[in-house]
Amino acid sequence: MTKARILDGTTIANEIKAEIAAEVSALALQGIKPGLAAVLVGSVPASQIYVRSKVKTCAELGLFSELITPPDTVTTEEMLGLVATLNAREDIDGILIQLPLPAQVNAKLLLEAVSPAKDVDGFHPVNVGKVQSGQPALAPCTPAGMIQILKRSGLPISGQNAVIIGRSDIVGKPAAMLLLQENATITICHSKTHDLAAHCRNADILIAAIGRPGFVTPDMVKPGATILDVGINRINDREEFDRFFAGDVRREELFLLKGSTLIGDVHPAAYEVSGAYTPVPGGVGPLTIAMLMANTVRAAKLRRG
Ligand code: GUN
Repeated sequence: MTKARILDGTTIANEIKAEIAAEVSALALQGIKPGLAAVLVGSVPASQIYVRSKVKTCAELGLFSELITPPDTVTTEEMLGLVATLNAREDIDGILIQLPLPAQVNAKLLLEAVSPAKDVDGFHPVNVGKVQSGQPALAPCTPAGMIQILKRSGLPISGQNAVIIGRSDIVGKPAAMLLLQENATITICHSKTHDLAAHCRNADILIAAIGRPGFVTPDMVKPGATILDVGINRINDREEFDRFFAGDVRREELFLLKGSTLIGDVHPAAYEVSGAYTPVPGGVGPLTIAMLMANTVRAAKLRRG
């Protein structure tokens, strides 16, 4: 069997970011500088890393950004007040409220308060509905990035069996809608699905978005299928490391140095059965940020262009 092709998300994201930087330069000639407000509540370490990376990318591409960091004791009312202010600001085109939020904040209420025109995460019901009915919309960044990976890698979508493991509002459900729009045949699997492996083996495009390290095993993959691995799981246990990476000398060196490593929702041995796969890190992740930038520029053009 030929070796599986690695779908390098960093390279694809850089390509998209270069296109966005060119668009931002063109908008500058019209006096428009797209602006993103990134709201980071409290001190969840992963969220801090993600949001910093989003803000940094804004600067790289010439977008304005503002980082707002309410304390983890913030109330729903205070957050609603903040969103109202951001909705009204002319210099802000996109509002990103990093999830998860502390338990006392009503996340649903808050996400519905964001103006749909500034909803660069694509979480507002208006945008969810538009994505579902195939209308142009601000679509959720991770699923939109997955479509970009497939298209820019020349991989077919139309007519393919796409099987999605995970039914989250952020990834699984919108991924299903975007792939359907591209004429794939969709199956969404979840924790109650009977004979998950049989569904997965039927996949030409297999999407793992469940947040369980190495969950997809080689027996679940059709030889030659495309795997998009959305999981980002950190492992720091030696036994767990060996279960997934025994014999991978390079990874072991890094693991010993850092005390942890990242693994997707797909077992490394399962990648080898595929025809092409996104690695973790460096697969779907970089696209999420690139698509956030794309959505922010799009929101600016629609609102001010
Ligand atoms: N938390 C995990 N993924 C996301 C995302 O795509 N957007 C936001 N706002 N929060 C997240």
